[in-house]
Amino acid sequence: MSKIVVNGGKRLFGDIKISGAKNSTLKIMAAALLTDKPVILRNVPDITDVRIMIDVLRELGVEVETVGDGDIHITTSKTLKSRAPYHLVNQMRASVVVLGPLLARLGEAQFAMPGGCNIGSRKIDLHIRGLELMGAEIKIRHGYIEAKADKLCGADIHLAFPSVGATENLMMAAVLAKGKTWIRNAAKEPEILDLAKCLNEMGAKVSGAGTDTIFIHGVSKLHGVDYTIMPDRIETGTYMVAGAITNGEIFLKGARGDHLEIVISKLRQIGLEVNCYSDGIELKSKGKILSTNISTLPYAGFPTDLQAPFMALLSLAKGSSVITENVFENRFVYIDELRTLGSKIDTESHHAIVHGSQSLVGAKVKAPDLRGGAALVIAGLASKGITEISDIFHIDRGYDSMVKKLSSIGADIRRTKSSTNLQYINFNQAPRANIPTAR
Ligand code: EPZ
Repeated sequence: MSKIVVNGGKRLFGDIKISGAKNSTLKIMAAALLTDKPVILRNVPDITDVRIMIDVLRELGVEVETVGDGDIHITTSKTLKSRAPYHLVNQMRASVVVLGPLLARLGEAQFAMPGGCNIGSRKIDLHIRGLELMGAEIKIRHGYIEAKADKLCGADIHLAFPSVGATENLMMAAVLAKGKTWIRNAAKEPEILDLAKCLNEMGAKVSGAGTDTIFIHGVSKLHGVDYTIMPDRIETGTYMVAGAITNGEIFLKGARGDHLEIVISKLRQIGLEVNCYSDGIELKSKGKILSTNISTLPYAGFPTDLQAPFMALLSLAKGSSVITENVFENRFVYIDELRTLGSKIDTESHHAIVHGSQSLVGAKVKAPDLRGGAALVIAGLASKGITEISDIFHIDRGYDSMVKKLSSIGADIRRTKSSTNLQYINFNQAPRANIPTAR
């Protein structure tokens, strides 16, 4: 089992290239099921979740070829299968978004009921309800969702909560449905726009993505596409926090400021200088971090996926901050590990009070989930001494080459095999940081 080992206290300087967005790639890969023509995707991140989605598609009889750096070619032949196996679905909940495309394309789908995960119950009742409104007959038998629909029909669907996954699944089901569909109280995340843009380039008729009412006029078939995935706004936010907590100056190549408005305004509020350019985002520290309050909400509110990295940052702020998690019911698991590094955090149901301006000291910690793991790496960067993070498979799910990227801007960070004895690791040989040129 690999571990990440960080020797903290180094300021970060330099440029990082932002990878393609995990939470867009996975859905656009599922959208390839909607056509039998070739789909080429570019700027695909090299992460475990993408590999699992490739396995899911291959299990469904899809040809998937990874070509060069970040390109995949997907060809969904005529003999598409309708059953998504438990052993893969169980590894990645997001695979639930193959349900809509399979139903739309084949008129049937069998999908292992996805369980909850570390961060919450992760229900899919809104997905099912929406598909039923489109005429699907859905039964849950022996742990499998069995869905049937000779022909999906357009419907007027009002989501009880602007669920990202439900909006995406229903949007993909509706593009080949008979007639018109409205998805009201829809999710507005940038990943929804990226999916809608790709579907329209495949010949779909989707409008209103990014607003709370999406309108889809079904078409009879879709064609292939050559599509470039948007940059990952959560990866961007994570590295901005890493730059801030180390009092550094970094440039995030390819990042989009318009996807991170509330995050950028929070960073400015707590004392960072953030400049957005057409080719990326620059963050400059001014040596102090002020406290603030954060409430996670659906987009354009503060992203729940950056709650944990900000918790680590605000552990070193001047004053106390309150962080409220409103999207997932169990997303504070990592806090115990942050406390091991010295963070002073009290929790009261879905509120966390972070008592700032404490120094952090390196220790052995375990990543409980993807974003919690990222928060521990960030805290390690600012901790005195060595932090050793295990269960990093969680981090590999959503961050493409995190260790390589952070060490390229001056972090003393390595991946080790668990048997490696820390004292023999020679940190001083970390690659020298490339000091940024003025913008
Ligand atoms: C997506 O999850 C992202 N995952 C999550 O990112 C992200 O945190 C989340 O959206 C919110 O932004 C992917 O895109 C793969 P939801 P998703 O449906 O689609 C409840 C990361 O770290 N709900 O918007 O599962 C649900 O229980 C991951 O990259 C229902 O009750 O999120 C949750 O509390 C973590 N019934 C809330 O809504 C439903 O049918 C938000 O879920 C659907 C959802």
